[in-house]
Amino acid sequence: MEEKSVEVKSFYVTTPIYYVNDVPHIGHAYTTVAADILARFNRLMGRGVFFLTGTDEHGQKVLKAAQAAGLTPSAHTDKLCENFKKLWTRLDITNDAFIRTTHPDHISTVQDFLLQLFNKGEIVKRRYEGWYCTHDERFWTDKDIKDGICPDCGRAVEKIEEENYFFLMSKYHDRLVTHIKDNPGYIMPESRRNEVLGFLRSNALGDLCISRPAQRLSWGVPMPFDNNYVTYVWFDALINYYSATRYLSGNKKDFWPATVHIVGKDILTTHAVFWSAMLMALDIPLPKRLFAHGWWTMKGQKMSKSLGNAVDPFKIIERYGADALRYFLFREVTFGLDGDFSEEALVGRINTDLANDLGNLVSRSFAMLNKFFQGKIPTPDAAEIELKTLAEDILLSIADHLNNLAFHRALDDIWTLVTYLNKYIDTNKPWVLAKSSETEGRLRTVIYSLMEGLRFVSLYLYPFMPKSMAMLYNHLTNGDASIVTLPEVSQWGLIEKNMQIKEIEQMFPRIETEIKPPKAPQASVPPPKEEGIIDIIDIADFAKVRLKTAKIIAAEAVKGSSKLIRLTVDSGGERQVVAGIGKHYKPEELPGKTVVIVANLKPAKLMGVESQGMVLAASDAEGLTLITVDREIPPGALVK
Ligand code: MSP
Repeated sequence: MEEKSVEVKSFYVTTPIYYVNDVPHIGHAYTTVAADILARFNRLMGRGVFFLTGTDEHGQKVLKAAQAAGLTPSAHTDKLCENFKKLWTRLDITNDAFIRTTHPDHISTVQDFLLQLFNKGEIVKRRYEGWYCTHDERFWTDKDIKDGICPDCGRAVEKIEEENYFFLMSKYHDRLVTHIKDNPGYIMPESRRNEVLGFLRSNALGDLCISRPAQRLSWGVPMPFDNNYVTYVWFDALINYYSATRYLSGNKKDFWPATVHIVGKDILTTHAVFWSAMLMALDIPLPKRLFAHGWWTMKGQKMSKSLGNAVDPFKIIERYGADALRYFLFREVTFGLDGDFSEEALVGRINTDLANDLGNLVSRSFAMLNKFFQGKIPTPDAAEIELKTLAEDILLSIADHLNNLAFHRALDDIWTLVTYLNKYIDTNKPWVLAKSSETEGRLRTVIYSLMEGLRFVSLYLYPFMPKSMAMLYNHLTNGDASIVTLPEVSQWGLIEKNMQIKEIEQMFPRIETEIKPPKAPQASVPPPKEEGIIDIIDIADFAKVRLKTAKIIAAEAVKGSSKLIRLTVDSGGERQVVAGIGKHYKPEELPGKTVVIVANLKPAKLMGVESQGMVLAASDAEGLTLITVDREIPPGALVK
């Protein structure tokens, strides 16, 4: 459910706290960069920002790993949390605090939280019998368990009967449903919100077992009212979001409630249900929003340490740079949906978007400034109203999209400006204007407007690609993009006339791919003699065509045409494609189908409706049939 941005003065964003035992991979990087983009953008908007990340350090697995390493659990976690901190430095993450659940101040907040609940009668002790998974440190009920196997990790579970403390979560079922229904932006995306509501509709909420006997699990927060027990690790972990605002936010303690918790789809229930109910029980305001993003897969498979297919972000950063990775993660896939990671797709994005569109724009503009004005910003003759309006006005739309965590749409907006500026060069042809003194004034206007346009590009892209965009902004203004605010600097015309601009190095060099086109067919191998094959092309020609899978979201007939259907598709971002399939398909039978589109076809208008690509179909005497895929595959997957 989209919401217009409301004026907020402070902004508090969190990532999940990562299991300290994990080796950081691209999935962890994804959530943290998302939070960083929002934090940087909100700082640019002049808001007070608190951006929190950290590590989840209690539990049996950590204890076992520490013992195996011959270390105390705290020495072990001290060492491991550095892996995450190192990655955040390499990715230019600007978290304001890093919380560790083993910190004494966090522990005392958790204990205080528990004590208050206990004193209010929200926690009771009960005899309990259930299936326990030692690996996941959680109980399951009879109906969850098949053949004695944990539904989550597939390991054997054991029947345990013991006394434990329970948080009376069941009481909050109705209040929770009402809150989710009354606040459409509370759980996003909408599909996830519906899932949570569906789950609550078909399951009466049970009470939550929140203790573990200390003799079975010692590495946890001791229950303040009973030393024989430690706190269930999720209960301890969720409180981090609140406890950080008590002792890690400097002298500003009023960041609670959080503006947005960003989590992966796998941990939405713990947040939407457990965490919401825990806060309700203490009458603490709920966070404003929970956003559950999708998963990155590798060749369609879940990434995991045991499968050995987890993408190492350190290696990717070393090869392509942090900015390119940050851009790719948010350009390639709609935030909220799953996506398949491939280095080829990353290189494709670097070469097309960053090297071709953006990098060329920057180098052409700087080269012309040098050539025609010796690197000094000229004084324009007139204002370029259309460009000025575009540059200034897209801010509102970018802000709305980022408010809804629609990163790809914000990038679409920014790219409208990049594309406009590239076209602006092509249509105005400064090199022709430079030939005559009569057009000297126009040349000054064009070059000035280009540089000013680039200043807007650098500011808007700064949250996504901070290193390169801070450099670009600094070249254009001598200023520091990390401390300016958009309310001060987002008016057209602020670039200083007569300022001498330093030369800039090439921003995003093209990456030469290792995929070598095969040699031209030998004369002795004749081309296939199938009917319809007229012309043989080599693989380099084929590589120019980007085919992608696209999921049809909506379809409607184009007015006045019996043939054309307007499709809204998700091909890793939303786009509109017009297809001539109206004689063979009805619009209502199309949504939900995954088709194949030509994704890099120049947009064209068909009966006045813009088509951003082409849908592939095969035809024979019987008519036409859409090319589809024969298993579920994320939208936006490359077809090769
Ligand atoms: N410690 C808990 C969170 C407690 S928050 C109060 C936890 N940690 S985790 O390290 O396992 O996962 C942290 C986040 O990483 C989750 O949001 C999870 O969805 C995300 N990812 C892990 N693998 C991922 C991908 N392959 N792709 C995208 N994100 C995924 O859960």
